Amino acid sequence: MNYTKKELLTKGGFQLINYLPSIGIEKVREEIIAGLKTIPKYIASKFFYDEKGSELFEKITQLNEYYPTRTEKKILSTIVSRLNVDFTNINIVDIGSGDPTKIRLLFSQLSEQVVSTIIYYPVDISQSAIEKAAEKLILEFPMLKIKGIVADFIFQLKLLPKTKNRLFCFFGSTVGNLSATEIEFFMNMLGNEMQQGDNFLLGIDMIKDVAVLENAYNDEQQITAQFNKNILKVVNNLSGTNFNPNEFEHLAFFNAEKNSIEMHLKALKNVAIIFDSSTDKVYLKKGETIHTENSHKFNFNKIKTIGLWAGLDIEKVFADDNRWFNVVHYKKNK
Ligand code: AVJ
Repeated sequence: MNYTKKELLTKGGFQLINYLPSIGIEKVREEIIAGLKTIPKYIASKFFYDEKGSELFEKITQLNEYYPTRTEKKILSTIVSRLNVDFTNINIVDIGSGDPTKIRLLFSQLSEQVVSTIIYYPVDISQSAIEKAAEKLILEFPMLKIKGIVADFIFQLKLLPKTKNRLFCFFGSTVGNLSATEIEFFMNMLGNEMQQGDNFLLGIDMIKDVAVLENAYNDEQQITAQFNKNILKVVNNLSGTNFNPNEFEHLAFFNAEKNSIEMHLKALKNVAIIFDSSTDKVYLKKGETIHTENSHKFNFNKIKTIGLWAGLDIEKVFADDNRWFNVVHYKKNK
């Protein structure tokens, strides 16, 4: 995660701009320290996605237990002809784009002629994830124009391209990682950003059997556990802390009151955390947890509310046969 070096680069047929330096490493450190000083302690889930974290997440998406990616892709693989959207000259803004295998499903349902008129803007906090994704997409769709944007989409939505005729995509139920207040704030901003006629495709994971949900975050191979613990290495790199991931245990469970899978890291012993930038220290007692992720699960009422926050109308809801996952097509009509 590169918060220091401002970059605008053109390589291998695509462009890329990094907006993270305008947030700055100081603000990120403050954000991390503040979370670790709150009771209960937390680390924001965007910090999962350094290069290693993005790789581990990709492995998660291929696990048997992790149904969301597979299910969403099944829906996306036939969606284009069922969407009342003209893709000619459209600007696709893909928020949290890390994994290119979803958007490629859309492009593969369009003619080369149409794809050549599209500008694709992948937006992600991980520069390496955007670069890898762009390299793969260019190979398959050499006629596609790609302009990657490295950004923290919560703080930097305003920096997204202001072109006409946009399709915003927010796949993976990543919206479920935002807190209740963040979702409302984000949808409000997105609604303000969107112009009349713009479209929005939102992938969301639905409430379902608790065993299915909990299994998806407690895989047998422990990849999710590695992914969870990797956040401590990212925090070490960004803020000079001395976390030892081996001193923590992965916890993931469904909070039925909040309809949310929670991930935590539980200290296996007493630990003292130091920061290189200050004399601050943070102490964890054996058994104390750091909250690293909420993954909210939704129902139809919530889908409606989300649209209302942004002033968007629901055009259509696409689901798999089990109704485990939904892709909602919202539109800005006025
Ligand atoms: C797909 C990024 C939203 O909440 O399911 C996967 C990330 N965390 N396993 C999700 C995740 C643990 C994830 N997102």
